[in-house]
Amino acid sequence: MMIENVVGRFSLPLGIGANFLIDGLDYLIPMAVEEPSVVAAVSSAALLARTAGGFYTGSTDPVMIAQIQVLDLADMGKAKRAILASREEILACADTSPSLSRLGGGPQGIEVRDLPDTPAGPMLIVHLMIDCRDAMGANAANTSAEAVAPLIEQISGGRVGLRILSNLSDRRRAWAEVEIPAKAFESDDFPGREVIQGIAEANAFAVADPYRATTHNKGIFNGVDAVLLATGNDWRAVEAGAHAWAARDGQYRALTDWHVRGCGDFETLYGRLELPLAVGTVGGATRSHASAGVALKILGLDVEGQGRIAPESRGSAGGAEVGSDRRGARRLSEIVAVVGLAQNLAALRALATTGIQKGHMRLHARQVAVAAGAGGEAVERIAGQLIAEGSIRVERAKELLRQ
Ligand code: MEV
Repeated sequence: MMIENVVGRFSLPLGIGANFLIDGLDYLIPMAVEEPSVVAAVSSAALLARTAGGFYTGSTDPVMIAQIQVLDLADMGKAKRAILASREEILACADTSPSLSRLGGGPQGIEVRDLPDTPAGPMLIVHLMIDCRDAMGANAANTSAEAVAPLIEQISGGRVGLRILSNLSDRRRAWAEVEIPAKAFESDDFPGREVIQGIAEANAFAVADPYRATTHNKGIFNGVDAVLLATGNDWRAVEAGAHAWAARDGQYRALTDWHVRGCGDFETLYGRLELPLAVGTVGGATRSHASAGVALKILGLDVEGQGRIAPESRGSAGGAEVGSDRRGARRLSEIVAVVGLAQNLAALRALATTGIQKGHMRLHARQVAVAAGAGGEAVERIAGQLIAEGSIRVERAKELLRQ
């Protein structure tokens, strides 16, 4: 039983994001999402990127932060120095998971931050840095924070309040990059150079304006959340961390960078997404939810699995990394970053050219037909008729169904 007071199950469609080439490896990416066109759009962006060599990724060590709030300090400076001087003792006390330490993880360091002017008066915040390996790490971080609290009180002479992880997991980040020639964007209606210029301008808009940045980043999370959900990960934690990261310089901004490189016939569009990604491939729902286990298998991230080698990279350095770094939570975070970048590319490409409504119309019409009670072949027929009439309403779909 995963939660309390259960009265049923609430299921979502599980789709496959296709065409992904990531660091020379092929991936099929499970995505659980209710919004039409998300999976189709990301798959078409992945196909575009594939023609240019696909996506490249990276990530930091999977280090989470646990916070310990210390109040009632007579001398903040003295308490801070005493805590920092007891670093080794605190780290040893925080080392509560033998299995994490055996895998090379566990507490790695401490930081002490001053909050001299809060509504409740001054306080010190101790950060424990904990390498959580393949776990999301909320349990490990919270257990360590609770374990060291009495020691921190003893060392600082203060009173400990909260002991909890921070979802601003800014030490645990992943990034994805892509570079695609302008000519790959060419269509009958739009020259490739105009399209990539439009995408760069759209990104600049979202860098400068929080109203646009919110929608821009929402589009990124269409993809990110769908993979997190499919793999049993805590998407609220990732959302909270990434939105705080997006506002790290004091203004909420786009999480991506898209700009034009080169000139003339050699113009390319370069894109990058970096964000905090606290995800796990062990623990929590990743293993207790049967479908999440299958999703991890499809990704080749289950413990016994491995990323599949793309034909074009067999025998190359890309393939050689399979089975080492290419498994577990870090790899999942890199794949999630790629999906976020690809989802954003699809949205910006549509917005910078025909707009998104054209592509959405058929999917929307299908949903309306289903909502009106259509099934089987009738869905397509009624959706087609609604589009032809230029009026996509449930009432009209019901009339058509009755006829
Ligand atoms: C819709 O779910 C997402 C978009 O609004 C994202 C964007 O505007 O970049 C299309």
